[in-house]
Amino acid sequence: MVSSIYIHIPFCSNICSYCAFTKQFYNEKLVESYLKSLKKEIDENYKNELIKTIYIGGGTPSSLKINELKELFDILKIIKLAKEYEFTFEVNPENIDKEKLILLKENGVNRISMGVESTNLKLLNYLGRKHDFNLVKDKIKLIKELGFNNINVDLIYAIPNETIDDLKKDLDNIISLNVNHISTYSLMIEPHTILYINKEKNIDEEIDFEMYNLICNTLKENGFNHYEISNFSKFGYESHHNLVYWNNQEYYGFGLGASGYIDNIRYTNTNILNEYINNFKREEEILSLKDKISYELILGFRKINGINKNDFYDKYKIDIHEVYNIKELLEKEYLEENNTNIYIKYDKIYIENSILINFIGE
Ligand SMILES: C[S@@+](CC[C@H](N)C(=O)[O-])C[C@H]1O[C@@H](n2cnc3c(N)ncnc32)[C@H](O)[C@@H]1O
Ligand code: SF4
Repeated sequence: MVSSIYIHIPFCSNICSYCAFTKQFYNEKLVESYLKSLKKEIDENYKNELIKTIYIGGGTPSSLKINELKELFDILKIIKLAKEYEFTFEVNPENIDKEKLILLKENGVNRISMGVESTNLKLLNYLGRKHDFNLVKDKIKLIKELGFNNINVDLIYAIPNETIDDLKKDLDNIISLNVNHISTYSLMIEPHTILYINKEKNIDEEIDFEMYNLICNTLKENGFNHYEISNFSKFGYESHHNLVYWNNQEYYGFGLGASGYIDNIRYTNTNILNEYINNFKREEEILSLKDKISYELILGFRKINGINKNDFYDKYKIDIHEVYNIKELLEKEYLEENNTNIYIKYDKIYIENSILINFIGE
């Protein structure tokens, strides 16, 4: 049964040069209409299930004003939370403050995810971000003082002109924040972004790989467990919400451009604000058994521990060795297995995507 919810807040106080997510400039009138439509969508679709993980992401949820955040939490009052739950709220350093954090705490948020991206002013400027590392340090301190002890920060690397030394410094700075989860992203230059329009080019693949290895080694040396291709956590602080995605479990996705997976259907809401507010539409993909197995493999192999063989059998009544080219992948030593799990060989994790595309052919 579904026990997770993603909620998208598509407003930002600043648009970054690399961002292709569903977002737009903050606008008070639009926020007002948006929250009304979000309420309608949640009221009409949520079926009273006990919820174990909620993730409010964006855009920039912390760009909403305090009265708008209060309204958002009023909308969420109908959601029944399990006794043990994880409730994440994404914040940007420049628009989160004490008053908002207290409101989050009062409303059950127990995990904060901050878009730090870099600690280097030159790189932050390139990314079009409006904060600096001093502000990050102040805000992380405040977040901790207010009693949040489960904190993620996002780091972007492989930024054009970034050197290995720049990345080393970023990692040192981020480790010094003493948070328990770090998500890392290699910069992608995506269509319709400022970087793309400016014809910026990605860093060399070789340097990207070197940077990825540096991140993995440095974070592991500093007590982080590498549990998903791009995610690292201190023991016990893996993101339960993201694990729902990687374990191919169902979840609601509410809001503009949000995706969900319910009753065998994967859906994506329209990403056109006017349509979301006035004429709600979403695209749906009804999954066959083969589709479900593809998702299970593509998502499951993102985890360093891979896929539990018994769980796979219980779900699909097929031995995982019999699907696609799993046997061949084992023979070619792209995959390995132990008593319980089957997983991508650690030194092949970086090329995980190309392995799966070749064999599963998505
Ligand atoms: C959609 S953003 C939302 C969070 C928040 N608004 C922020 O910007 O920090 C989630 C994360 O995705 C990453 N991201 C977004 N666009 C990216 C890109 N083109 N390449 C690499 N990482 C990207 C950033 O690290 C960002 O923090
Ligand atoms: S990266 Fe985050 S803050 Fe920047 S435009 Fe995208 S969603 Fe907004």
